[in-house]
Amino acid sequence: MNLPPPGIIWNSLPIPALLIDETDRVAEVNPAAELFLNLSARSLRGQSVLERLAIAAPLEEIFARVRNNRASLFVNDVDVTTGEKAPVQCNLQVAPIGEDPNSILMLISPREIADRLGRASMVKSAARSAIGMAEMLAHEIKNPLAGIAGAAQLLSMGLSGEDLELTDLIVDETRRIVKLLEQVEQFGNVRPPEKKSVNIHDILDRARKSAAVGFGAHMTIIEDYDPSLPSTLGDADQLTQVFLNLLKNAAEASKGAGTIRIHTFYDYSLRLRRADGGGQSVPLQVEIMDDGPGIPPDIANSIFEPFVSGRENGTGLGLALVSKIISEHDGWISLDSVPGRTVFRVSLPVAPKET
Ligand SMILES: Nc1ncnc2c1ncn2[C@@H]1O[C@H](COP(=O)(O)OP(=O)(O)OP(=O)(O)O)[C@@H](O)[C@H]1O
Ligand SMILES: [Mg+2]
Repeated sequence: MNLPPPGIIWNSLPIPALLIDETDRVAEVNPAAELFLNLSARSLRGQSVLERLAIAAPLEEIFARVRNNRASLFVNDVDVTTGEKAPVQCNLQVAPIGEDPNSILMLISPREIADRLGRASMVKSAARSAIGMAEMLAHEIKNPLAGIAGAAQLLSMGLSGEDLELTDLIVDETRRIVKLLEQVEQFGNVRPPEKKSVNIHDILDRARKSAAVGFGAHMTIIEDYDPSLPSTLGDADQLTQVFLNLLKNAAEASKGAGTIRIHTFYDYSLRLRRADGGGQSVPLQVEIMDDGPGIPPDIANSIFEPFVSGRENGTGLGLALVSKIISEHDGWISLDSVPGRTVFRVSLPVAPKET
């Protein structure tokens, strides 16, 4: 079959799509976008995207990054509205287009209800009882498992050769199940964060140290900190968990030795645009960057969902937990990944001045 002309593809694309010019204005919208935004192409052309659409994500920043890196960017779970309609939760895909380095294509995929239940309301709504149940089960299974592992270890003392291999297998596999259960328990822990003014570098140090002696021993970890960064308002344990998970993913992604860079900096311009028009400033930036193979493209859209994993032994709960914690801290997480360069960026608010 021959490829139809671009205009036909553009018009039949079932996903709302916007072509954005170098001044962040709408150059073109497709019929799906007209329908979704409830606005005609004529009324949108030439309008500033930032002013015309209320998108709960730092769009200027996103566009700048797409232009600078010439790479596409995914932003999950943002509220999109034109101000006249109720906000709809969407996934955004922003990509450079064609020869012109400054033109951008933005796809807005409204999330299906079922899909949305997967994450945002998972902890809040009916799914909470399912998690509660899993958590209870996890707790109950852990004790007998410890007994099994202990018994296998006792048995192994008198064994050698193949028999020893078998008892080792029992011990290893029970450990793996215990780990999985611990993650389920942790995910089910819906304790709201106990927020205090905390220095993000103390948290990063803690996470880096345990990475360096454990799962990240094969990695070179570079710290690139802005020491003048003010404190954030957060739960130190939960934030440590966030960075541990990100460091762990980075370490696990790289097959052999690799480099992880932890970069902190201040970005005054970064605000989350809320659907109600208000803004939340999230100027503290922490980037965890690795030089591994990048996010597998088939799951790139859903890695923040629970149980989505690209690893053989992964439970897929790590990033779901990260995104839950960050959203409870009024922060934002974004992802930028190409082979050889994967960056998770966490943006957090500054703690109010203590009086
Ligand atoms: N830095 C990274 N580089 C490449 N792929 C990554 C990176 N971080 C995450 N991923 C991909 O995203 C998937 C989901 O990550 P997530 O942390 O949610 O789950 P997991 O690591 O598979 O399991 P768990 O964290 O629960 O042990 C991973 O399996 C991996 O495929
Ligand atoms: Mg993980």
